[in-house]
Amino acid sequence: MPMAVLQSSLYLLVLLSVIFPVAKSQRNQPMRLRFGKNGEFKILQVADMHYVDGKTTPCEDVPSSQLASCSDLNTTAFLRRMILAENPDFIVFTGDNIFGDDATDAAKSLDAAFAPAIESNIPWAAVLGNHDQESTLSREGVMKHIVGLKNTLSRVNPSDVNAIDGFGNYNLEVGGVQGSAFQNKSVLNLYFLDSGDSSTVPGISGYGWIKSSQQSWFQLTSANLKRAYMRQPLPQKSAAPGLAYFHIPLPEFSRFDTSNYTGVRQEGISSAQVNSGFFTTMVESGDVKAAFIGHDHLNDFCGALNGINLCYAGGFGYHAYGKVGWPRRSRVVVANLEATSNGDWGDVKSIRTWKRLDDEHLTAIDAQVLWSKTFVGGLI
Ligand SMILES: *[C@@H]1O[C@H](CO)[C@@H](O)[C@H](O)[C@H]1NC(C)=O
Ligand SMILES: *[C@@H]1O[C@H](CO)[C@@H](O)[C@H](O)[C@H]1NC(C)=O
Ligand SMILES: *[C@@H]1O[C@H](CO)[C@@H](O)[C@H](O)[C@H]1NC(C)=O
Repeated sequence: MPMAVLQSSLYLLVLLSVIFPVAKSQRNQPMRLRFGKNGEFKILQVADMHYVDGKTTPCEDVPSSQLASCSDLNTTAFLRRMILAENPDFIVFTGDNIFGDDATDAAKSLDAAFAPAIESNIPWAAVLGNHDQESTLSREGVMKHIVGLKNTLSRVNPSDVNAIDGFGNYNLEVGGVQGSAFQNKSVLNLYFLDSGDSSTVPGISGYGWIKSSQQSWFQLTSANLKRAYMRQPLPQKSAAPGLAYFHIPLPEFSRFDTSNYTGVRQEGISSAQVNSGFFTTMVESGDVKAAFIGHDHLNDFCGALNGINLCYAGGFGYHAYGKVGWPRRSRVVVANLEATSNGDWGDVKSIRTWKRLDDEHLTAIDAQVLWSKTFVGGLI
């Protein structure tokens, strides 16, 4: 290549990378999550482990005959069984991973809480709840500890924004099947946000919320991902589907009743007292098909509003409050790719979910389609 051509193409490359910074980082970063050869990507959601110290930590709301034999180790055992039963591609912990108030060493509790995920060698990620910082580490400290653990894809915060509220706001891309036409495209986008702990605004009590700085980051990220997806090669007509994970319910979770959700609502929706508008922001962005949370352990429903499924996972941990006789549970989400006529794998065709109970057979319940290219919401 003549020097002048080389120089001008280098110039073009520099110019392009200034205009499209995300495109550049996508080119340089190998896709760390991707769909399997079976055209499937499965996510296990674990909400509210409330882990403390292991075998000395008592259980809450189990039959009194079970109290003596029950501890955090039951939470550990449930997580191991879920991982074995579902063999997920990715595990997401949606906050209150530890119950800080009772923990004497936050780092030790976090290590023990995530141990089954780490042992499994399956990539995992976590966000913060409202209890994670109540022990010896701040919210920033907890998130910094988490990102240092093995096999996690968690991040403290995006590096490309100057100031963002909270700790643990990041996104992950899930690539198409290796060797397929979509191998270099993120066909499923995962967003993780810190929904805070308590309100920090004088005069407003109650829980925290997703702040405007976080929503700006989300909007920018979603728009960049959409642009990349719709760009050559293999330009797509619209954004790839997205899934959002955080801890505290949005006020919109209270818009359902038994006629339009799947699962149960056995307690109030403990949202912030103000509506920061994140639901509307997601609706406007157009790519998020479902948001998954925890926080209210006795609610485990999914309901669809304006094309977005709002889903609880139900409480997982044994040191967390629960309901005697109502098993601890966990949510599974599976995205499946379209099989193309030439025997290749295409983009995402459908996203389904179900839950499993911590009973003898890990009974699966409430299977439903959350999204498909041709149909939104409802029972299978
Ligand atoms: C906790 O685990 C122990 C030991 O496996 C078991 O005997 C007990 O039934 C479990 N308790 C609950 C409430 O699941
Ligand atoms: C994906 O990117 C790699 C590395 O840049 C390239 O070799 C390959 O041809 C690309 N594949 C597709 C299907 O775009
Ligand atoms: C669910 O149904 C109730 C009526 O039973 C209605 O008031 C509410 O708006 C519905 N919610 C959604 C999200 O469709």
